[in-house]
Amino acid sequence: MLNIALPKGRLGERVYTMLKQAGYGCPEIEKPDRRLVFENPEVGVRYFWVKPHDVTIYVERGAADLGIAGKDILLEHSPDLYELLDLKTGICRMCVAGPGDFQDDRGKLLRVATKFPHIAGEYYAGKSRDVELIKLNGSIELAPILGLSDVIVDIVETGRTLVENGLTVLEEICPISARLVANPAAYRFQRAEIDLLAERLGREIQDI
Ligand code: PRP
Repeated sequence: MLNIALPKGRLGERVYTMLKQAGYGCPEIEKPDRRLVFENPEVGVRYFWVKPHDVTIYVERGAADLGIAGKDILLEHSPDLYELLDLKTGICRMCVAGPGDFQDDRGKLLRVATKFPHIAGEYYAGKSRDVELIKLNGSIELAPILGLSDVIVDIVETGRTLVENGLTVLEEICPISARLVANPAAYRFQRAEIDLLAERLGREIQDI
């Protein structure tokens, strides 16, 4: 039995559909109830819904053998796990954003609000730009509007949140998408099953 942590929400539902098409369906999970664990012994999978940010915790600690995590979370926390497949979904960009007329004054410390202090810190260290990182947990776009920060480092998907808050992309840091990740010990002991699942899922991606 493979234990798979799915991120609760739109991305998780999309990935579950891909898993189903790859032969790993689980009728139980499609019923509208509030359970969190579902299994289909016939195809050897047990799914559970977890908060997107917690997927890597479950997989890293071996409570799940496999999981679906955004590259943003993998870059931010560098968890000790294997990245097996780019699922080519949940596609977005990690960007620096701010007011359209923003001019960086290198004589001043740049104040950067973000949910991703590690990614932002590495990015500005690479540019030898001294910054003050302000860690927030959401609604990041508010920070420059209220003068809490000069710019933000955040995920941009459609760009709507930025536009509707009068902000714009200033720099692109990297592309982001969902990845299939595995616990290293689980991968060692269940390699054949995991490789087969990754291969079948990979074929679904090519067909998209
Ligand atoms: C994310 C991100 C942006 C928004 C980008 O926030 O932090 O705010 O989505 O999407 P868009 O480019 O399609 O508008 P999320 O929805 O996770 O909410 P949060 O503010 O609670 O972090």
